[in-house]
Amino acid sequence: MADTKSDTKAEVKKLFVKTYGCQMNVYDSERMVEALGGSGYVEVSSPEEADMILLNTCHIREKAAEKVYSDLGRFKDIKLANPNLKVGVAGCVAQAEGEEIIRRQPMVDLVVGSQAYHRLPELEAKVGNGVTAVDTDFPEVDKFTAMPNRPKARRAPAAFLTVQEGCDKFCAFCVVPYTRGAEVSRPADRVLREAQDLVERGVREITLLGQNVNAYHGQATGGSKDTWGLAQLIRKLAEVDGLERIRFTTSHPNDMEDDLIAAHGDCAKLMPYLHLPVQSGSNKILKAMNRKHTAEQYIELMKRMRAARPDMALSGDFIVGFPGETEQDFEDTMALVREVKYASAYSFKYSPRPGTPAAEKDGKMVDHAVAMDRLHRLQALISEQQYAFQESMVGRDVSVLFEKKGRQEGQMIGKSEYLHAVHASVEGVNIGDIRRVRITQSKTNSLEGQLID
Ligand code: SAH
Ligand code: SF4
Ligand code: F3S
Repeated sequence: MADTKSDTKAEVKKLFVKTYGCQMNVYDSERMVEALGGSGYVEVSSPEEADMILLNTCHIREKAAEKVYSDLGRFKDIKLANPNLKVGVAGCVAQAEGEEIIRRQPMVDLVVGSQAYHRLPELEAKVGNGVTAVDTDFPEVDKFTAMPNRPKARRAPAAFLTVQEGCDKFCAFCVVPYTRGAEVSRPADRVLREAQDLVERGVREITLLGQNVNAYHGQATGGSKDTWGLAQLIRKLAEVDGLERIRFTTSHPNDMEDDLIAAHGDCAKLMPYLHLPVQSGSNKILKAMNRKHTAEQYIELMKRMRAARPDMALSGDFIVGFPGETEQDFEDTMALVREVKYASAYSFKYSPRPGTPAAEKDGKMVDHAVAMDRLHRLQALISEQQYAFQESMVGRDVSVLFEKKGRQEGQMIGKSEYLHAVHASVEGVNIGDIRRVRITQSKTNSLEGQLID
């Protein structure tokens, strides 16, 4: 083997990353790629050519967690063909299962939890040839500060920026408080610096991320002892020249404070789209889920959002088949959906997760077929609303941030303020430009429009 230490040119190694789960994992994967860049890794798009495979995993439902193991099984042949290949598991399955992953799948060389990945380069350097490493600590140090600076490469016009992590809410079904730990907010100065850096690299739209992003309570700027809520952070970010759009996700209804609602009405850069999960429309189920709000309070909140910004696009998450859910409870969920009228929403069949109160409690499980039937009925209703909302765009003028070239000559694709994908034939428009577009047609998963001069 070549002695790399005496090489003047650093050895280039290839890294294949697969990301599961939520947007925070997407952001984390970007940061891990950057961190491993310091160890000579460049990202590649196929696992076959990789020197290292890194899976950034999700533990939210059983299917998501099991997918990691079936993927690892598929990577076995690649490892057999290339014994020097390093395989790493990061993210929420890593945090939840730790060493157990290596026991179940001995091809794995390293396991790094969601709060320890700034140590990834160190771990990577020491594993291989039968040496393994597991790090699922929750270190005191802010992992974002400990990460190397981002390389100054140009970026796509829309980016994620994590401002808050972890959750103190402990909904009875959810693993996040265990996999991501307690709520922590990044100081506003650091968020602003990172936003400024992203803008200098071509970013026009930033989505602020947190498992409970509207619970943000970070240190105010300038070393102040005060803390800022999310609305204050957004208003400060809105002063950044060149940053044109701000979004945030995901929020909890109980942290939707007056100032944040008001910001949707008076902060032009804050986009008219809110993802606010409710999980169920039945107060009995909401109580059993430990959500600490009622269906009526949620509906009222959605009305206030629309009062602050009438064109607000609303989105949510639902779980069907939570233990004890009756047909009437499910009908209450359907009624809530009919009342709110969503622009889009996500729905899931309840999945019992090890270590969560709902799974430990031995509640009365809903029959699988019944839960599936409810899921299909809910999804049909949501699709209807989603379709209606998309159709309502035809004839309207929207603003589009153009993100990439389309398949047809002269065509580009971008996102409207309501998160619809919009295709338009454009001339003289660059990636990163925001232009007014008149919507002419609604297609299956996108809109088509014409540039307005
Ligand atoms: N932090 C976010 C969402 C976390 S997980 C929030 O609080 O809104 C994303 C969604 O997955 C949740 O909103 C919920 O609808 C769903 N989910 C979480 N745990 C689940 C479980 N055990 N079974 C099924 N769906 C679940
Ligand atoms: Fe999970 Fe509830 Fe926290 Fe959301 S608020 S991350 S659903 S515990
Ligand atoms: Fe999944 Fe972890 Fe996100 S469990 S949803 S990747 S916080």
